[in-house]
Order: sequence, then structure tokens, then C-alpha cells
Amino acid sequence: MTKRIVLAYSGGLDTSVAIPWLAERFGAEVIAVTLDLGQGRELTDIRERALTVGALRAHVLDVRDEFAREYILPALQAGAVYEDSYPLATALGRPLIAKKLVEIARMEGADAVAHGCTGKGNDQVRLDVSARALEPDIEVIAPARLWGMTRRDEIEYARSRAIPVPATIESPYSTDANLWGRSIECGALEDPWVEPPEEIFALTRAPQGGPNDPAYVEIEFERGVPVRANGIDMPLVELIESLETIAGAHGVGRIDVVENRLVGIKSREIYEAPAAVVLHAAHRELEKLVIPRDLERLKRDLGRFYADLVYNGLWFSPTREAIDGFVAAIQPRVTGSVRLKLFKGDCHIVGRKSPFGLYDHGLATYDTGDAFDHSAAQGFIKIWGLPIETQARQERKAKAEQPVGR
Ligand code: ARG
Repeated sequence: MTKRIVLAYSGGLDTSVAIPWLAERFGAEVIAVTLDLGQGRELTDIRERALTVGALRAHVLDVRDEFAREYILPALQAGAVYEDSYPLATALGRPLIAKKLVEIARMEGADAVAHGCTGKGNDQVRLDVSARALEPDIEVIAPARLWGMTRRDEIEYARSRAIPVPATIESPYSTDANLWGRSIECGALEDPWVEPPEEIFALTRAPQGGPNDPAYVEIEFERGVPVRANGIDMPLVELIESLETIAGAHGVGRIDVVENRLVGIKSREIYEAPAAVVLHAAHRELEKLVIPRDLERLKRDLGRFYADLVYNGLWFSPTREAIDGFVAAIQPRVTGSVRLKLFKGDCHIVGRKSPFGLYDHGLATYDTGDAFDHSAAQGFIKIWGLPIETQARQERKAKAEQPVGR
């Protein structure tokens, strides 16, 4: 029986070269799969391209809704932001890509899946680990890890097999985009001292170029799910897209970090994630209003842990599922509205309200109507003021005991 390989196909040079390469190297039939994760590209010509370069069949699937509801939403509710900066757009897309590869492999009777990742990044690990978690016997092939071709070799290889190579000089940047944001690496960005050139951005306007009047957005949540923006009901995908447009126009959502990769490298990364930045800020704020302090602290720690899991490719893991359970237990209270002000790159919370809010005006006010028992604070003074022998206290005592005049 001829070997069959299901390849995650983006339409770019690497995966276009991978089709004939896999066919030749393994004597295999190659089936291309291209997913619409909201990267905003026309996918019908990508399908044609896959067939032109030799794919037996080319599947194109719109998975935006599944991506939003089953990957983005749990990460939003968990507060998953990697190293306090990166909302994980690329990292969240990988497990879904792996899942679809495995599903199509089953449907097509293939025993291997393939992807275009190199051996240096996180994405290879996310795809490898996720595919194997879902289908332990499946073989995962990464041609770019095997073929040892440089960019120039690839172009040579493509020309020799009549694979159309983009006429324009390819951008020096490596980018990945989906509904939750865009990642940009390489080129001039490899020097962490160099300011990102304006040309790399696609979703956000330069903050100083934004409108001179701020935009206000009111986001309403029901049980942890954002359902309405400025009073308009919207399905999650649409809501994310709308927020991207508004926040992006005000220059909100640019992130510039040196990040710790799973493979042990530090890398300079630029992200654009206007909708993710706004929604994380809003969800965090509303949750903070409705849960007690200790739960808020615990939740924050778990969010960090969750981000590490997602980043490290452990989406399909019992640990992630367990944290999801914890997070889900809190969400029924996360109902209410948050008002944000977007202006010249900044996203500020200016209002929050919830029927489950724990904010009590009577307890908080310094005005008439104060219901807080002021003598209650005595307890803190008695306990926090206990005469424990700290170093500072000992030093003070020693000084006081020194004879005067020396
Ligand atoms: N560093 C980010 C991550 O690991 C972005 C990766 C971008 N991937 C890409 N193929 N350009 O999630």
C-alpha cells in the first residue's frame, strides 16, 4: 500500500517544497490541509497551489468558530498570558491544527502527518506533542528538520520541479497570524536593541498616528463569555474581529519582548494582539470585582501556569483540563460590564459593574453612609504589630542602648 502523509499546508515556499519532497523521499501520496484560523487570507488559491505542486487532495477547513470557542475562550478565562506579555495566539492555534491533521489522517487512512516547522522553534514541539497525544501511533514528519536545505537550496529545488516561487523577494520576517493575534520574528528584529520598523505591523496603527479622540468600548460578559460590545450582541469570532479593528486603529496591542523559548533559546518577538489585550484586560478586571482576594491570587498563579502549559505544547494534557475545571467554577460569577478607553496605544479600564460585584460602597466610602467598623482595624495592629525580633528592630534597640556622647 502506498504511504499517505497528511501535511499542514500554508501555501508558502517551505510547505510547497515539502509536497514533492515528501512524495519523493517516502514514495508517498501527500494530502494537503489548510485551515482558516482567522489569518485573513484567501484560501481558495492556496488549495489550487497545493494541487499544482502535487498534492493528491487539498482540504480547506474554516475552523474559526471552534478556535474561538474551544481554544481562545478557555485561555482568556484562565488569564493565560505567557511571561506576562504574550497572549499566545500562535501557541493556541497549534493544538487545533494538530487535531485537524489527525482527524483528516484517520479519514484519509494516512499513517503520518507532516508540518513545515524547523527544529529551532516551539511550534514543532506543539504540533508533534499534540498529534501524538491524540493518536499515539501516528508518525510525525517535519521535512524542514530533515532536508538540510537553505533558503537558496529550497528555491533551487522548487525551480527544478517547476514549483512557482513568489517573484517578489520574500520578506525577511517570519510571521504567523490568526484570530487572536500576529507573531513576527527574524530579520532586523533579531537584534533586540533595534526598534521594530513600522513596516512589520499589519493589525495595528502606530500609536502616535491614532485618532486624537479616544474610543470607548463597553464589553459585556455573561458567565465569563464576552457577548456584547457597545450594546451589540456578537458571536465570539465577530466580537474578536471588531475589537481588533477598533483597538488596532488606536494603536493598542503591540508587544515587544525577549521571550524564553521552550527549546532553551531566548528570542526577540513582536506581537500584535489588539483584541486579546483588550479582552484580557476586561475579563481580568471583571473577575477581580466578583471574587475574593485569596481566590484572585490563586487564579493569577494558575493563569501563569496555564500559559506555560499552552506555550510548551501541553494543551492536550490532564493538567490543562484540571485547570479548566477550576476556572469554570469561577466563571458563573463573571457577568457584568467593563468600560475601556482606547487612546494612542493605551488601553485603560475606566469602569466596571456586575450584579455579583463584591465592591460595597458602604464599606469603601470615606463619606457619609460609611458602614465600616473603624475599630475592626485594631485586630491588624495587635497582630501585625507583634514585637517580633526583626533585624531592623534589633538594630534600633542596639542603637538606643549605646552610651550617649560616644
Ligand atoms: N514565539 C511565538 C511562539 O512560540 C511565535 C511563533 C511564531 N511562529 C512562526 N512560525 N512565525 O508562540
